[in-house]
Amino acid sequence: MEIKKVVVIGSGTMGSGIAAHLCNANVPVTLLDLTTEISEQARERIRKSRPPLLFDKSKIVNIDVGNINDNFNVVSEADWVVEAVVERIDIKHNIYEKIFKERKAGSIISSNTSSIPISVLSEKLSAEDKKDFCITHFFNPVRYMDLLEIVKSENNDLNKINSLKKFCEISLGKGAIVCNDTPGFLGNRIGVFAMQVAMTEAFKMKLSIEEADAVFGRPMGIPKTGVFGLYDLIGIDLMADVLKSFIKELPESDEFQEVAKEIPLVKKLIETGYTGRKGKGGFYRMNKVDNKKILEAINLESGEYYPAQKINIKSDKVDLKTLINRDDKYGEYAWSVISKIINYSSSLVPGITDEFNDIDEAMRLGFNWSKGPFEMLEEIGVSNFFSKFKNYKGNKFLENLAETKNENFHGIRQKYTDIETLGKVKKTVSNIDGNSSASIYRFNDYNIVEFTTKANALDYDSMDALKKATDKPLIIINESMQFSAGVNLSYTMEFAKKGDFKSIEKFVGYFQETCKHLKYSDHPVVSAPSGLTLGGGFEVMVQSNFVASHTNIVVGLVETIVGLIPAGGGCKEMLARWLDTEEAKNDPNYAPLKVFDIIGYGRTASSPVEAEPMKYLRPEDKKIMNRNSLLEVSKKILNNNKDFKAPFETEFKLPGKVVKEEMNKILEKLYNDKVILDHGLLVAQELAHVLSGGDTTIDKTLSEDDLYKLELDSFMRLIETKQTQDRIKHTLSTGKPLVN
Ligand code: NAI
Repeated sequence: MEIKKVVVIGSGTMGSGIAAHLCNANVPVTLLDLTTEISEQARERIRKSRPPLLFDKSKIVNIDVGNINDNFNVVSEADWVVEAVVERIDIKHNIYEKIFKERKAGSIISSNTSSIPISVLSEKLSAEDKKDFCITHFFNPVRYMDLLEIVKSENNDLNKINSLKKFCEISLGKGAIVCNDTPGFLGNRIGVFAMQVAMTEAFKMKLSIEEADAVFGRPMGIPKTGVFGLYDLIGIDLMADVLKSFIKELPESDEFQEVAKEIPLVKKLIETGYTGRKGKGGFYRMNKVDNKKILEAINLESGEYYPAQKINIKSDKVDLKTLINRDDKYGEYAWSVISKIINYSSSLVPGITDEFNDIDEAMRLGFNWSKGPFEMLEEIGVSNFFSKFKNYKGNKFLENLAETKNENFHGIRQKYTDIETLGKVKKTVSNIDGNSSASIYRFNDYNIVEFTTKANALDYDSMDALKKATDKPLIIINESMQFSAGVNLSYTMEFAKKGDFKSIEKFVGYFQETCKHLKYSDHPVVSAPSGLTLGGGFEVMVQSNFVASHTNIVVGLVETIVGLIPAGGGCKEMLARWLDTEEAKNDPNYAPLKVFDIIGYGRTASSPVEAEPMKYLRPEDKKIMNRNSLLEVSKKILNNNKDFKAPFETEFKLPGKVVKEEMNKILEKLYNDKVILDHGLLVAQELAHVLSGGDTTIDKTLSEDDLYKLELDSFMRLIETKQTQDRIKHTLSTGKPLVN
């Protein structure tokens, strides 16, 4: 079965997200709704979406729109029809009746339902039609959430389910997990249970919502929105509907029932319009006091709001063993929540899936947890867990484990896919070296470096690991979301605060030395970025010999935003790329001016399609839809380059003063128009100095080292200014840049 044409019915949040992602995969799609006006509006929403649902606006040409009355005949040409209309069984049944009358023989029909069982959805279908009907449960936003649950029934033609899975895996890049027809499938069953446990335990233990979110967040390897923040984001009313549906679908004896009971405060919030971020606020709200916006949190007992407190439980890295053994209320809360999640998840195996491991993966891909419940158990340790947890009678999985005490019960990861993923490989190889910022793994005859800091910010140790690992062909790749958000600014600021600029200079020098080494060592280096690949992260990538990039990548040189310039080779490499164009051969000013514009404005691209015109990525760099495939593709690159020879060093001919004058004219105008202020001007002048080649002329040749030196000197002059330090401090404390 080949999928060449798709029809999506229902152009709301999910239908438009699915259609947009099919566009990204260059699959023509028709989006139908009650009226063409509705689907047209959906197309416009897709075009303007932020974060962008499309890799590039030009992809929109793959979408056609129409309505279910006049244009239903498109269904007869589709290989796959996805139903994503409102969650109402009567409406869905009517649609299926129409679809199965019209559809092409053998085509696959699926529903995006989040709560209606396949047995109910398909109850009116003939046995023959049931073969081709399943659930494809995508997560929102479709482009960015990797989980896709494919729910099958005993009536399905399994070959067809498998080919749909392959298509969704390879062409759409999803982590496609096939599961049974049980309420909430895998992700929502565990994810919503976990949220309810985190919430009800916070009430019971009288924790504030900020305290609960501080524990049920980063320290547990869960996104920092925590539980109450996530509730506000999803919508408190929507969560109430989800709970009602679970209460209805699950047997009374199910443990879920206990944590899904209506909470009076939640009821009151919904009734008064406090439905979360989309309403007047929720557990948190923004309030204006004396004309200043302040974030407020709700008191779970009184229902009154107060200024939200910053809670630091001093647990930056995920370390569950330490967390659950803390001798304070945070440790007690963490243990209570984690043990309940582990107990519940394991009690559902094999009912909801034969592979308990699929539950871990669903939590990782659908809820962005860094570890699923069974991996949490693995990390805590089996004996350790049972020394604290006694109440598992009737839970077959735990009873069995308590008896065998098998610490290695977990086995291989990511069984849902045949792809050789980093997650699988990491479990079988030795961790040969590393430090607190990066791990080095040896796999066959090559090395893997994985960064391990928050957002994979880079410091001296990250560079040390990279440098060490070039004794073999090297792949730089991460399991976590971001490749690297750039150099660790807190690390740099620690030195700046003490006035220790020598140490900063030493660090930047070492950064440059390492990147040069990546480029020119005897062994090939492949970078496999996904997510944020900014600043120093980009410089590591761009000085690797090969790139295998995920299609969800945010890439660029953003240093000017914090009052700095790229100094790890970013200016140098961008110049080299732009000098290597036809235009640059005819006009010596062309390349420096182009790069001046890109770096000066800190321009970023949010997909490879956007990155190529800026030359952040090259046409020959590999672009991959499925994040799981990054390792396989990188490995293939190494295999195809067994006779690798390091490239020759680039030489630069730059116009010096001639182009600097052009740049200064641009700056003068921006300054007069107040687009940039005094410090912005100084930063841009330093950038102009580097990109023009400093005190050079077009007939002179500059080496890569000359450019590194220009970058370093300008960087040091800027970091020593109070204004740049203030900008960095502001960004570190607020997460946002200081404008101008
Ligand atoms: P939505 O309310 O945003 O969109 C539903 C769309 O269906 C609307 O554009 C509406 O005009 C259209 N529609 C209604 N009746 C129709 C009919 N007879 N023919 C054609 N179009 C019709 O809903 P949303 O959130 O996109 O949900 C769609 C489905 O996806 C539901 O089954 C929901 O349970 C499921 N889902 C929703 C998720 C979410 O995060 N919103 C996540 C996963 C699944």
